[in-house]
Amino acid sequence: MTIQQRASALTKIFGSKKSTKHHQVRDRELKVFEAMQSGKPLNDAMLQKSAKAHLWMHFTRHSPFFNGKDINIIERGEGHYIIDSKGRKVIDGLSGLFAVNAGHGRIELAEAAAKQTMELDFMPLWGFAHPRAIELAERLLSYAPKDLNRIFFTTGGGEAVESAWKIAKQYFKLTGKPTKTKVISRMTAYHGTSHGALSITGIAAMKQMFEPLVPSTFRVPNTNFYRADPRFKNEEEFGLWAADRLEEAILFEGPDTVAAFYVEPIQNSGGCFTAHPSYFRRVREICQKYDVILVADETITGFGRSGHMFASERYDIQPDMIITAKAITNATAPLGALFVKEKFFEPFKEGTVIFPHGYTFAAHPVACAVALANLDIYDKEKIVENVNKNSPIFRKTLEKLHDLPIVGDVRGDGYFFAIELVKNKKTKETLTPAEAEKLLRGFMPGALWAEGLYCRADDRGNPVVQLAPPLTIGPKEFDELERILRKVLTEAWSKL
Ligand SMILES: Cc1ncc(COP(=O)(O)O)c(C=O)c1O
Repeated sequence: MTIQQRASALTKIFGSKKSTKHHQVRDRELKVFEAMQSGKPLNDAMLQKSAKAHLWMHFTRHSPFFNGKDINIIERGEGHYIIDSKGRKVIDGLSGLFAVNAGHGRIELAEAAAKQTMELDFMPLWGFAHPRAIELAERLLSYAPKDLNRIFFTTGGGEAVESAWKIAKQYFKLTGKPTKTKVISRMTAYHGTSHGALSITGIAAMKQMFEPLVPSTFRVPNTNFYRADPRFKNEEEFGLWAADRLEEAILFEGPDTVAAFYVEPIQNSGGCFTAHPSYFRRVREICQKYDVILVADETITGFGRSGHMFASERYDIQPDMIITAKAITNATAPLGALFVKEKFFEPFKEGTVIFPHGYTFAAHPVACAVALANLDIYDKEKIVENVNKNSPIFRKTLEKLHDLPIVGDVRGDGYFFAIELVKNKKTKETLTPAEAEKLLRGFMPGALWAEGLYCRADDRGNPVVQLAPPLTIGPKEFDELERILRKVLTEAWSKL
């Protein structure tokens, strides 16, 4: 089709109306068509204009874009780099969103998606199964703790959070404990945005606008040892104290009313909180004692981030359910998977019982095929082993930043670290809200980008910079990350 033919086709679609709106749409369509035909992508100015006119980005403050600021538009991904529409090549220090663990631009995944699209493009998992979902369930379980035996697929982490809660509620209703419905989770933890998952989330500022939420969720302390009361001599003592708060909450609410406890093996929100093994041991005992389902939310920590395929294994959490998503397909297709002990499925094997819950695109055949190809990459390239080998070097490299006055703490595990920013290292005095706003939203994102790094500057808890790069990188890239952070954090200090 020539550009003239396209123009006349568009005139037919939009008619000969002379309204400005119709002309604008027609002109934009023609420009897109012309760019596609000539093999040249839309230029940055056109993309900026169109994005500002029509895109509603997630978790995004839009006002700066109406006051002259450009949007970072990412056009391409290559390995551990992303490339924006102005041609700038930047290290993807966050794996997209904790998701592109094997790096960008994997041809194997594109081929798997193409092949599957030709073979079976779609069938839902509603009353049917298909080979890729069956193969993937079996394959995923081969990496999981032994007693997890069944997979409920979703299209992402939040849906798996919801699904686990609904399974827990129905399971207890079917097994004679109908009042066990409540969920306990940890302070500052993020578990998703749908009403149920948001109720389980422990970040007040994210919830206020959407109250009233689903009732019956409660928070207990997380394992932020850096901010723990100084009376705790070590991480183990503090961890045991934090675990005991779970027992206290269960007793306070009434064990007969509590269905589940959700915990991230390394809590993302607040800045990569790890826990002493005694914490998880004690949590496991408490859940056992009160028949509370222990749900490990591994949306981020799954698929090698911690240096094990699942962090539940690394910390011997022994969960009853594991939530996974994001890196399951290397983020090439949306997919989530909830791993469940067979015990919770048993009542659903009986008579007319069903679990009346599901999602059209859960276990989409193309996503499952991509996930299988992604797991092949993990096995072939020993992705998890790379994290295990290099994580101590990554930690040591980031710990060099301790000589900067603004760096209070460096913490995390695997390829998942946070650097907490302070005004006074000795007293651990944190930034005021105005300072956090100025640095984390005003100065740092732009400065990091200009130096060639995309990562997260966050103050859902105390202010942190977070890194979760693709699991394929090594010491050379760690040095580069440290160099950039040193430069930007040094400048940030001068702005305080
Ligand atoms: C721990 C955790 N749970 C749940 C979610 C929600 O996942 P999704 O955005 O795929 O719904 C996230 C997202 O980052 C997460 O980090």
